[in-house]
Amino acid sequence: MFAVAWIGFAGEASAQQLPNLSIIRPAPEQPLPFSHKKHAAQGLECAVCHPMPDPGVFAEIAGTEVCMGCHVQVKTDSPAIQALTAAHRAGKEIDWTPVYVIADFVYFSHRKHLERAKVTCAACHGDVASMDAVAKEFNISMAGCMQCHRETEAPLGCSFCHETRGAD
Ligand code: HEC
Ligand code: HEC
Ligand code: HEC
Ligand code: HEC
Ligand code: HEC
Repeated sequence: MFAVAWIGFAGEASAQQLPNLSIIRPAPEQPLPFSHKKHAAQGLECAVCHPMPDPGVFAEIAGTEVCMGCHVQVKTDSPAIQALTAAHRAGKEIDWTPVYVIADFVYFSHRKHLERAKVTCAACHGDVASMDAVAKEFNISMAGCMQCHRETEAPLGCSFCHETRGAD
């Protein structure tokens, strides 16, 4: 249904006429004081906590099971770790507040960018390993995507990002 409306729209708009949707936000409040900086100092790779299972459109955030691999023993006297442990025992996941959210009419795939385009996490999320709290530093408005697509000679056609697409 949306695709039909889209065709009419695409004919009239151009990237230049669209509003600039670059909103850089401070880090949102999170249910637990999780620090990427401290965990990166433990030598943990991103993929330990952010696997990208097929089809790789989304990056997951590890469940409490992964956390408890260390936190059964590490920092058990901390109230935050006690809350983490209680959630784990109750079979609940932590309700993290999303930092990066893209409109659902936009097609985006992590795996395509990481494998095919060979861009690093930092190109879109900044130097997360040095952050205590993750803030939205990167502009994921259309202008933000387009800027890199122009620089890297990636596709610029409206339908690449806006057509309804399958997993590949
Ligand atoms: C490889 C082991 C390891 C894994 C896996 C791990 N952590 Fe940690 N975590 C640590 C260590 C070590 C510290 C203490 C770091 C420091 O204080 O410098 C820590 C500290 C923390 C703290 C701060 C505790 C406090 O009060 O100071 C929180 C919260 C936390 N981790 C949450 C998590 C969550 C949530 C996960 C899973 C997504 C996770 N951790 C996975 C090792 C780990
Ligand atoms: C020990 C587990 C762990 C490791 C290792 C880890 N992360 Fe995370 N990551 C989390 C957790 C938990 C959250 C949710 C809380 C938050 O936003 O800080 C998160 C959130 C994020 C977010 C924000 C997601 C959103 O909601 O938009 C990004 C981006 C991110 N991580 C990137 C990275 C990158 C890049 C690396 C490697 C440099 C990395 N992470 C390593 C556990 C981890
Ligand atoms: C080309 C830009 C780009 C690259 C490269 C990239 N991301 Fe993302 N990431 C995004 C966008 C856009 C979103 C929001 C996706 C959404 O809302 O569906 C996002 C969301 C996330 C999330 C929140 C969960 C989700 O999928 O919505 C995590 C966690 C994350 N990224 C981790 C990573 C990690 C780890 C890497 C490197 C291995 C990485 N990202 C590389 C653009 C990127
Ligand atoms: C850091 C640079 C960079 C950023 C930022 C970036 N892209 Fe890309 N993107 C690329 C490159 C390079 C390719 C080309 C991959 C190839 O050659 O197939 C690509 C390819 C794509 C494709 C085509 C994948 C396919 O099916 O062939 C889509 C869709 C896409 N990007 C959407 C987005 C969206 C949406 C955003 C913003 C949230 C974004 N990109 C941000 C570099 C980037
Ligand atoms: C590289 C990916 C990409 C390409 C190519 C692209 N867009 Fe977008 N577009 C986006 C993203 C991402 C958003 C959503 C921004 C947000 O949520 O803040 C968006 C949003 C929009 C919106 C909604 C604006 C609003 O007010 O929310 C329109 C209309 C639009 N695009 C039209 C187009 C047209 C027309 C073309 C072809 C000239 C095009 N787009 C090409 C990524 C792309």
